[in-house]
Amino acid sequence: PRPLTIAVDGPAAAGKGTLARTLADRLGLAYLDTGLLYRATGMAVRAAGGDPDNPGDAEAAARALDPTAIEPDALRGEDAGDAASRVAAIPAVRAALLDQQRAFARQPPAGARGAVLDGRDIGSVVCPDAPVKLFVTASVETRAKRRVLELRQRGQEGIESRVLQDMKARDARDSARGVAPLVPADDAVVLDTSDLDRDGALFGALALAGARL
Ligand code: C5P
Repeated sequence: PRPLTIAVDGPAAAGKGTLARTLADRLGLAYLDTGLLYRATGMAVRAAGGDPDNPGDAEAAARALDPTAIEPDALRGEDAGDAASRVAAIPAVRAALLDQQRAFARQPPAGARGAVLDGRDIGSVVCPDAPVKLFVTASVETRAKRRVLELRQRGQEGIESRVLQDMKARDARDSARGVAPLVPADDAVVLDTSDLDRDGALFGALALAGARL
């Protein structure tokens, strides 16, 4: 049988990562956080002394990326998020990362019967045939508050007004780009988590996913 793919898209700090990971866990599916590919690419450009807005620098880093060498903990910061959203606006970078994402969905590791991919364009570009597509969102104010809590839990400083400003800038860059902008696929189900806790979001997602399976 064809592997099952669940696409989870949406803006930063909408609760998408936690939700996608939990869904994968509960349904016995493999999980891929595609944002890490863009984060690793952006930080590799900076580490090499390049400019993440420069198409040549960014494409070279994307092509050289070894996904098995990615260290998620080193890539959680806002600096990596910023670099990621810059390289992500470059079409050649998106093209270079596309095959890896599709291969994961088609042949999930460790005998899993499918995969949950989380990102911005999974339902619209990477896996347009996925039977279940969730677009997880929340108001930008709610997302900024969540990100501040997350930063503080990691012992980092988070100034809410600053985080809100950065988040609006990143949303604008992700939504306005010409290639694979952040918009729900036509057949995606929108889940607004502004007034939901983790369990509420999970129950909502399971109900929506169940209706499509
Ligand atoms: O999800 P995360 O915050 O880790 O993503 C970082 C950035 O990578 C996003 O702001 C977006 O610009 C880019 N991205 C993307 N397409 C994906 C995943 C991430 O453009 N599928």
